[in-house]
Amino acid sequence: MSKYYITTPIYYPNAEPHLGHIYTTVVSDILARYHRLAGDDTFFLTGTDEHGTKMVKTAAENRLEPIALADRFAGVFRDLWQELKISNDDFIRTTEPRHKAAVQEIVRRLHANGDLYLGAYEGWYDEGQEEFVTETDAKAHNFKSAITDKPLVRYREATWYFRLSKYVPRLLQHIEANPHFIRPEGRRNEVISKLKAGVEDLSVSRATLKWGIPLPNDPEHVLYVWIDALSNYITALGYGTADDTRLQRYWPVDAHFIGKDILWFHTVYWPAMLFSLGLQPPCCVVAHGWFKSEGRKMGKSLGNFIDLVKIRGTVSKYGLDALRYFLAQAAVFGDDPDWSETNFTKSYNELVNVLGNLLNRTLKMINNYRGGVIPAPAASDAVDAPVLEKIAALPGALARAYENYALHQCAALPIELARAANGYIDATAPFKLAKDPAQAARLDTILNICAQAVYAALLALQPILIERAVLGLKQLGVDPAGKTLGRLLGQSLPAGTKVGQGQPLYPRM
Ligand code: MSP
Repeated sequence: MSKYYITTPIYYPNAEPHLGHIYTTVVSDILARYHRLAGDDTFFLTGTDEHGTKMVKTAAENRLEPIALADRFAGVFRDLWQELKISNDDFIRTTEPRHKAAVQEIVRRLHANGDLYLGAYEGWYDEGQEEFVTETDAKAHNFKSAITDKPLVRYREATWYFRLSKYVPRLLQHIEANPHFIRPEGRRNEVISKLKAGVEDLSVSRATLKWGIPLPNDPEHVLYVWIDALSNYITALGYGTADDTRLQRYWPVDAHFIGKDILWFHTVYWPAMLFSLGLQPPCCVVAHGWFKSEGRKMGKSLGNFIDLVKIRGTVSKYGLDALRYFLAQAAVFGDDPDWSETNFTKSYNELVNVLGNLLNRTLKMINNYRGGVIPAPAASDAVDAPVLEKIAALPGALARAYENYALHQCAALPIELARAANGYIDATAPFKLAKDPAQAARLDTILNICAQAVYAALLALQPILIERAVLGLKQLGVDPAGKTLGRLLGQSLPAGTKVGQGQPLYPRM
């Protein structure tokens, strides 16, 4: 058994979650569930990033204390993940004592290693992204945030620096020696060229901000919010405490699952900190694209914002599976997906017309022609080969797709199999064969192959279709509870299994 540790970014609890947060979290959940089903010792972490300027400003706008704002929206995030049946094993808030104490220990160690020194910062800051921006980048974007378009703010203050530049050669070496450290491939090249262009030491404390974790070596300063936030990935595992068994068991993390806008923090600042702490860097940082909406950048002022109301409306109309399937296959993984009525309907119709339809047809035929019992196959024909090959190839192809974080394929492979099986039913016309007693053996084979195809597709879709895949499997006479994917996928559904009556998995809209 191997272990699998996966994390989402920890979100700013300054407003309600929206499609972006839901996308990251749902896709991470699919990965976590796949690994649990595969039998891996899995740990899935999410949480909220509660310090920093952005929290202070939003709180002031709402006439709240930062902690009141954080309490309110951390609760909203936590409840939403339950509502969406996200299977996280822990939820960490950066205002929790367990996090704050461990972060202070981290700072102590960075300092003891000689990696912190006092200096002064003068330059630009992007308060929406909580990011220092170089003069060149600031100028290139007209002194506005490249992400939010809001004006950058000029900072001039004393600060502690982290010796980031010291770790750049080691980092470059690590990235070059580990092709899968950054996924997808294109993003990796981005990081390499930016690193080669030169990196300065990082300002890691704020003397003008009160809302944060005080530096143990200089309590007049609070820690830069990103250093505080990135640390969650180890503080949640008990780093720096008497009980760090989880850290021993799960570190290094297998996947930090993030959006492309926060790649630099995760592939540069974070590994450099880990080097300084004497810990291994993440095995892999996986960056997804940014969701557009109806073909345009998603924005509150643009009227195309996919907020919680819209998400809840979608889930209550189409169900949770439909949302999850849509998110998984919405783009070639890494590219920018687009939320549109058309795309959503198209993806939902695949569940109805391809998967649901195959299950329904298969069960109906087995019930009508074979008294509800899956027949043993007789000799197979050339026309059977493509579907049989797809069934045989699925376990390997699926494992590779998950291993490569090709999420769209994880969703598409089983659906392609179901599509092929539907075509196979059309081509072999079992309803005609059923009228001819001389064709009984042929019909047995076809029915068996259909049952195997829909069985394999449903098994493979379990991490995505968390509500209805099991229902479909039960209609096929199998309860997958307690069995690993490895034990089920690749083994056929035994002939003689009694199937249920077909009930549509997904209603037609
Ligand atoms: N707090 C930091 C992360 C710290 S992790 C140590 C942060 N939080 S966030 O709430 O602003 O955003 C978190 C995630 O939401 C990011 O992965 C970001 O890419 C994602 N998204 C925000 N808008 C998005 C879209 N429109 N589409 C897809 N994901 C987007 O950053």
